[in-house]
Amino acid sequence: MAKEIEALLAGLSKPQKSIAPKYLYDETGSGLFEEITTLPEYYLTSTELGIMDSHIDEIAATVGPQASLIEFGSGSSVKTRMLLQHLDKLAAYVPVDISEEHLLESQRNIRAAFPHIEVLPVVADFTRRFSLPAPATMPLRNIVYFPGSTIGNFEYDDAVELLRVMHQEAGDGGALLIGVDLQKDPAVIHDAYNDSAGVTARFNLNMLRHLNREFGSDFNLESFRHKATYDSDEGRVVIELVSTQQQAVHLGGTTILLDEGEAILTEYSHKYTLESFAAMADVAGFTVSKVWTDPNQWFSVQLLLRD
Ligand code: TRP
Repeated sequence: MAKEIEALLAGLSKPQKSIAPKYLYDETGSGLFEEITTLPEYYLTSTELGIMDSHIDEIAATVGPQASLIEFGSGSSVKTRMLLQHLDKLAAYVPVDISEEHLLESQRNIRAAFPHIEVLPVVADFTRRFSLPAPATMPLRNIVYFPGSTIGNFEYDDAVELLRVMHQEAGDGGALLIGVDLQKDPAVIHDAYNDSAGVTARFNLNMLRHLNREFGSDFNLESFRHKATYDSDEGRVVIELVSTQQQAVHLGGTTILLDEGEAILTEYSHKYTLESFAAMADVAGFTVSKVWTDPNQWFSVQLLLRD
């Protein structure tokens, strides 16, 4: 049996059923996520952008000249462009993504807009160590960039492991520039994952359509509903698909039984305090050097230095 189906079935046979978040992002899913980032309730993207906009000169000065910018993710976001525009005499831009297709597209866009910047895409699973290409201009330091608080989608041990990979890739004298979503009024967080237009619900449910198309499963989208709850003790949003009835689903020759009200976990989104994030970064060998936030302290952009 295909490895992917095996892994899916493993997740769906545990007492707490789960589906890996990567299945959120087929073509439809990526489009829906783009739409989420423009919703009034989804404060993350606009707040991070506002922070970058207000502090870009200081961020650029802190990074210094002739750095190599290594983005974890294919990047072609407005935030990336802001950095490419403002960082002084950039040595190279190195986007790292598992999807060659996404990389090629962002490479095309970046090359068109910044013809003077050397773009060196790397196809790799960035949760594991990979080797960096050598730019024509010798970089003075590496700056790893990880926007969007995507770190929050990893559970603690995996987040530390990923920070360790970034630590390694940053190398001597390197740094990490990272977007980190902060704990705040639970109602604000709740609404960000339960928007009134229902885009987030469609995004989450689309995962099942993706599985049906790719693996021939028979999830009935009508008998699942989107659920996202903020657990303020754990500091994380738990995103699930809840079965609205007792039902059987077939995948790869296996029958999966679901009770009425049973939930399939699709993603966590951790929210941090400045202290909790600094403590986690410390375990991975980083010291927080600068923190830029918005006036509400809803989100932060942080520069972490290697110890
Ligand atoms: N990285 C995004 C986040 O944690 C992903 C996301 C936003 C998401 N809304 C979602 C994932 C809804 C699943 C369902 O904010």
